[in-house]
Amino acid sequence: MTQENIKDKVIVITGASSGIGAAAARKLAQLGAKVVLAARREDQLKELVQELGDNAMYVTTDVSRRADLDNLVAQTITRFGHIDVLWNNAGIMPISFFEEGHVEEWDRMIDINVKGVLYGINAVLPHMLAKGEGHILSTSSVGGLKTSPGIGVYSATKFAVRAIMDTLREEVAQTIKVTTIYPGATQSELGHDITSPKIKALYGNLAAMPKMDEEAIANAVIYAISQPGNINVNEVVLRPLGQTR
Ligand SMILES: NC(=O)c1ccc[n+]([C@@H]2O[C@H](COP(=O)([O-])OP(=O)(O)OC[C@H]3O[C@@H](n4cnc5c(N)ncnc54)[C@H](OP(=O)(O)O)[C@@H]3O)[C@@H](O)[C@H]2O)c1
Repeated sequence: MTQENIKDKVIVITGASSGIGAAAARKLAQLGAKVVLAARREDQLKELVQELGDNAMYVTTDVSRRADLDNLVAQTITRFGHIDVLWNNAGIMPISFFEEGHVEEWDRMIDINVKGVLYGINAVLPHMLAKGEGHILSTSSVGGLKTSPGIGVYSATKFAVRAIMDTLREEVAQTIKVTTIYPGATQSELGHDITSPKIKALYGNLAAMPKMDEEAIANAVIYAISQPGNINVNEVVLRPLGQTR
């Protein structure tokens, strides 16, 4: 992995206001990338851009709105001229059991975790195809490889990310790199919006579970982005030692 392959790359990150996306933005900016931060919480994005300096910008974005992704891509091109990398990382995990009927939470997970990825791909693909190069990453989850009770809809959205990205890889393999990241349990704000009493009871001692820090996932993304031009890192699966599922 070489810093030269990161330096000056224009890298757009959704879900950059906290957790994995924010940690990766810091590391990528340190390596000389131009980072474009997208999420809904403007205060947090603004603060991070102030910390990172001139090579960072933010665009307030709700990935469940197609026009917001189109705007994100357009604003990035206006400021930096082109896009090298789009990382669809935004996601939510308000998990519950089916019998609890939290249909609005299912809808939001589908809108953000699935449609958000599709809208990102749709917004950036014409630009990358015209340029004849580019790299699209998305964050799935180990829940996108294996499901378990209580995570059915979240898991379904992450299985969908896998299907979308693997199909995209086959369609654009001649010119565009496609990478799916599958993190296991990672320290972040994910799950802060869980409302299910059954999940709360089940995962009551969640804090005691082994977890990776966000930097572990940031390092995997840096590994994928920093490869030479002909190397397409398609999938990276990471779990903390001690996580079995
Ligand atoms: N932490 C884990 O254990 C783990 C494991 C596997 C996979 N993942 C995946 O990793 C990704 C990042 O999550 P994280 O762990 O870093 O959690 P996090 O700290 O909660 O970060 C989630 C990010 O997504 C953004 N987001 C949520 N809804 C959005 C929307 N509608 N539009 C734009 N941005 C939105 C949030 O920003 P705003 O609220 O400001 O919009 C935030 O920046 C997610 O896709 C998650 O599913 C995490």
